[in-house]
Parts: sequence; structure tokens; C-alpha cells
Amino acid sequence: MAIRVAADDSTTSDALSDLHALMRLLHDEYKTLDEGNVATYIPELANANPNHFGICIAAADGRTVAVGDCDVPFTIQSVSKPFTFGMALQHCGHERVWKHVDVEPSGDAFNSIELQNGTNRPHNPMVNSGAITVTALLQEHYGADTFDAILACFSAAAGRPLTIDQSVYESERRTGHRNRAIAHLLLNFGLVPDDAEMALDVYFKQCAILITCRDLAMMGATLANMGRNPISGDSVFDVPCVKDMLSIMFTCGMYDYSGQWAYRVGVPAKSGVGGGLMAVVNRLAGIATFSPKLDAHGNSRRGTEVFAALASRLGLHVFDCLNVGSSFLGVVLGTD
Ligand code: DON
Repeated sequence: MAIRVAADDSTTSDALSDLHALMRLLHDEYKTLDEGNVATYIPELANANPNHFGICIAAADGRTVAVGDCDVPFTIQSVSKPFTFGMALQHCGHERVWKHVDVEPSGDAFNSIELQNGTNRPHNPMVNSGAITVTALLQEHYGADTFDAILACFSAAAGRPLTIDQSVYESERRTGHRNRAIAHLLLNFGLVPDDAEMALDVYFKQCAILITCRDLAMMGATLANMGRNPISGDSVFDVPCVKDMLSIMFTCGMYDYSGQWAYRVGVPAKSGVGGGLMAVVNRLAGIATFSPKLDAHGNSRRGTEVFAALASRLGLHVFDCLNVGSSFLGVVLGTD
């Protein structure tokens, strides 16, 4: 199904139903893709229903198109990382964040126990070591209110009050020895304060925040709308922070698949082991998928394929020479 919509040959609502039809088609096509595995290293995540599958697009003006399981709650996991990074940039300052975390792709797994040669900083804020460091910076700023501040920020981005999945949080707190090792490595190099366990505890909580595929698309739409939630109008992130968040998502958001993702999909994105995947089409839309079976990199298997298909059908890649998708989405979403 090739979609070519020009501003003069389709009304917005025709184009919207074309988009809905394309999303239904992709949902049908990829629901039979049965590769990958549900995460089990956090025991509670092993209870995820592997059949859940949702695709949602939220425009920068807040209109949404959803197909499949878009209202099923799941934990945000690593999709939290660009948002806490944005909070740290905003509240601790660019310079301070930069001193603690670099912005280079690591080429290694998200949970690798390593720091950058020479500087001993985490490679970037999307891998666990960088994200725990960012949370520690937030902890220095907000003290005992850190998790509440994170929850309030994520809720403002999603446009509704979010909550935490207590059992996933406790499950990771009980079994997250690898992250505990990372936190203590960071402590060794002075990147987190003496109370590394406190920052780690907040990190586990931020990962256990419950969102839906629809929430995730709206959080992406908040970034596409330059940091302002499209429905409430609330300013969640300043414009320069959004630029930095999207940049780091583009280069590091898919871990050691980031290069292939940039090649195949070409939009800033972030994945989580709960099965969520969020991408941002600059100034136009947030797009999210939810499917809990993961590939070896920890990225949703179906999600990756749906995004590759959407990018190629709609021409979403930032370097797409025809820029078909951006103009298509512009027509559909009324931003032209
Ligand atoms: O720290 C962890 O291992 C998890 N709470 C989050 C990891 C994650 O989501 C990796 N992303 N795909």
C-alpha cells in the first residue's frame, strides 16, 4: 500500500482515514511476527502478555490515531531515560550534566558495566550507567522529592496523572544486581554521591512508571511540539532541552542497534524492555508501539519492524529525499 497524498487532492479527514488504514494494515501484517522474547531478567516482566500489540500516532496538535492495544498499561523502563535527561538539562544545567555523562554512542549493550576510557564518564545518558548518573544528578537537585518530580514531569508530558507499578519496581529492586554493580562503579569514580543506593532506588521507580501506548505517543507529541503538551498546553521542557533530548535519542536511543535504526528508520527514538518504543517526527508527531517481545538488543521486535515499515511507507526518515511522509503527515495532521 503506497500512500501519496498531496495537499490539493485529499481532505484532512480522508488522509486521516488513510493513515488509520495503513496502521491497521501494519498491525495485521506484524501481529504474526513471533520473534524475540519477553524480558525475564526483571522477574515480574516475564508475566507480560506477548500478544499485546498497539500502534499509536499523536500529532503535535494532540489528535491521535490508535490501533490495537493502545490502552494497556505497561512499565516505561528505558523510555524514561530521555525524559530524565531532559529534566537534568533543564534543572541542573547543560555544563553540569556534560561533566558527568558524555553523548557518544557506546556500541555496547544497554546494561554493560563500563565507563568511557580516559574520562571515566558513562558514554551517554541512554545506557543504564548514564541514566543512573542522570538520576543521581536529579537526586542532588530535588533530594527526597526526586521521584515525585519525575512522576509529575512524565505525567505532564503524557497529559494525565501516571502511577507506578509497585510489583515491577520491587521485582527490579530485589534482582537488579547488575545495575547495583553499575551504581557502585559510578560511586567509585565520584559520579554519584555517597548514597548510590538512593539514586538507584529512584531509577528503579522511574522505570516502573506505568504508561500506555497512547501515553507514549503523547509524550512523543510533547517533544514534537517543542516541549509543550499539545492538549494541556503545559510547558514540560524548554526548547533547547528538546533539541538535546532528540539528538541523543537519534544517536543512542536504540543502544547497539542505533546505527541500523538511523539507517532503516531515521527518526529519534527510545525503546524500553517493557515493550514500548517511542519515536518523534520533528515538529509533527509522536509515534509509539507496544509489543513486549524483544530482540537481542532489548528493543521491541515488532515495534522495530513497524517503525521501519512506517518510515518507508510514509517517508519519515529525516534524510528522505522526497520527504513524502513529512508532507503527508503535515496534511493528515493539519500542520501544513
Ligand atoms: O535498568 C534496566 O535494566 C531496566 N529497568 C530498563 C532497561 C531497558 O528498558 C532497556 N531498554 N530497552
